[in-house]
Amino acid sequence: MKRGIMELCVALDLPTQEENLELATTLTSHDVWLKIGLRSYIRDGNAFIHAIQAINPNFKIFLDLKLYDIPNTMADAAESIMDLHVDMFNIHASAGKRAMQTVMERLSTYPKRPLVLAVTALTSFDEAGFQAVYGSDIASKADRFATDAYESGLDGVVCSVFESASIKALTHQNFVTLTPGIRPFGEAADDQKRVATVAMAKQESVNFIVVGRPVYQADDPAAVVEKILRKL
Ligand code: C5P
Repeated sequence: MKRGIMELCVALDLPTQEENLELATTLTSHDVWLKIGLRSYIRDGNAFIHAIQAINPNFKIFLDLKLYDIPNTMADAAESIMDLHVDMFNIHASAGKRAMQTVMERLSTYPKRPLVLAVTALTSFDEAGFQAVYGSDIASKADRFATDAYESGLDGVVCSVFESASIKALTHQNFVTLTPGIRPFGEAADDQKRVATVAMAKQESVNFIVVGRPVYQADDPAAVVEKILRKL
């Protein structure tokens, strides 16, 4: 993986597989990662992943399923993900250190594995909503979850742009941060609460930005992607 420069992950969150594949086809010559989330994966399954790999075997794929279960079930699921040949997937840090460690131990038996990230605080949470679930403010809990993930051997975390610098300072500069909630040039926030622009993400040394609606709802998604790539 190229370290040092920020990478763009485009979320394939469209209502149909055809539309997602059309978007992927439009982006085939662009240096982007593609993110497959719950909606697309539940609807279209592994065949969808294979269809993307067939469009361009060099596409980097981030499987965003945010696993959360007992340690053994998470490790079993992680092993099934190995068969899909994706480049990155994620689990919830709140599943606990034992769960994260069990996943990493299980994957350590493979010669090559995808990057594994832990979700800290979903970017859709505001302070009050987060407090109600976790009994903590977002920043301190995100730091705690990130430290747990780092100590459990994960490669990085999903967090908001506002937590990236503090997490790197607490863990390691090479500990990857991936940030959704990006509104590249200040577009509407939709249901995201803690949004940031590409420039802010770059300033906070984020490794991956995830952009969904601002790309796929645009009249010309490839043009938006090109505009973002020029800013990285
Ligand atoms: O459309 P938008 O740019 O808000 O899409 C963000 C994408 O990132 C969605 O696919 C969403 O599920 C995902 N995501 C997120 N917050 C997280 C983790 C993933 O918004 N903490």
